Amino acid sequence: MTMQVRPLTDTLGAEIIGVDLAQPLDDVHKRELYRLFVDNAVVVFRDQHFTPQQFAAAAEIFGEIIPEQFPNYRLPEFPTVSFLSNSDLEKTGKKRAVRGEGFHTDHSNYEAPPKATILYGIDIPTSGGDTEFVSVQAAYDDLSAQTKQLIAGLRATHAYKSQRDQHKSTVLSADALAKTPSARHPLARFNPDNGRLGLFVNPGRVTGIDGMEEDAAFDLMDKLYAHATRGRHLYRHVWRKGDMVLWDNRSVLHQATTDYDMEERRYLYRVLLKGEVPLPAPRQAA
Ligand code: SIN
Repeated sequence: MTMQVRPLTDTLGAEIIGVDLAQPLDDVHKRELYRLFVDNAVVVFRDQHFTPQQFAAAAEIFGEIIPEQFPNYRLPEFPTVSFLSNSDLEKTGKKRAVRGEGFHTDHSNYEAPPKATILYGIDIPTSGGDTEFVSVQAAYDDLSAQTKQLIAGLRATHAYKSQRDQHKSTVLSADALAKTPSARHPLARFNPDNGRLGLFVNPGRVTGIDGMEEDAAFDLMDKLYAHATRGRHLYRHVWRKGDMVLWDNRSVLHQATTDYDMEERRYLYRVLLKGEVPLPAPRQAA
């Protein structure tokens, strides 16, 4: 196997060419791919040809698949894999609501949010419908020493939907909503796979910060989010059919874009990989 790796920006993202993930890989190559994933945060494999089963097997090189929480997004013929599609979206006037609008990280209300999300492009609009990523680790590194000190040790509560969230999330019945989990997570999150800290901000889900008044908590959250998403460390993925894109939710936020002709079909397979309970900054050795 002759694998070529091309950096996509100065701070995040790598494109990998010359790997057919539908074929069995030995452990040495699997470890090499895992290293590229944790070091680059977003990894793009071009020209893949998968059945749902082959996509799941490729995803499992990087971890254990966790089930999609909403059964209606699971593939009926192979429910281990779910899908993202614009053809089943609710029409709101002319514009349809798109899942994944606004920079976010997946399922941060889980005790152990998914480590990674993986998409595989099947039907891609002729133009637009890109996915954007920002590095929350580069954003953390850019903070002043004073802000790093301010957020060290702070924990935020993440719920299914924040009281201030404007996005249309999948609508749940009151009963289903009451059963959704919530969790308290560090604002500065440690990624044990690459040894770096990243901002763990997700305005759609954060309902408060321990020990802070609500206004002050949201003010801080807004400032950190604006800092992380201002585009200084951004990779915008322009999809091609056959792309498999894998990202580390501990290292980046992502968002779907809506700048394409909604009459064109956009359809991708999706899986999430099991993650660990988010870790705070490790204690410095005395
Ligand atoms: C998402 O996972 O949030 C959606 C990303 C996309 O559709 O580009």
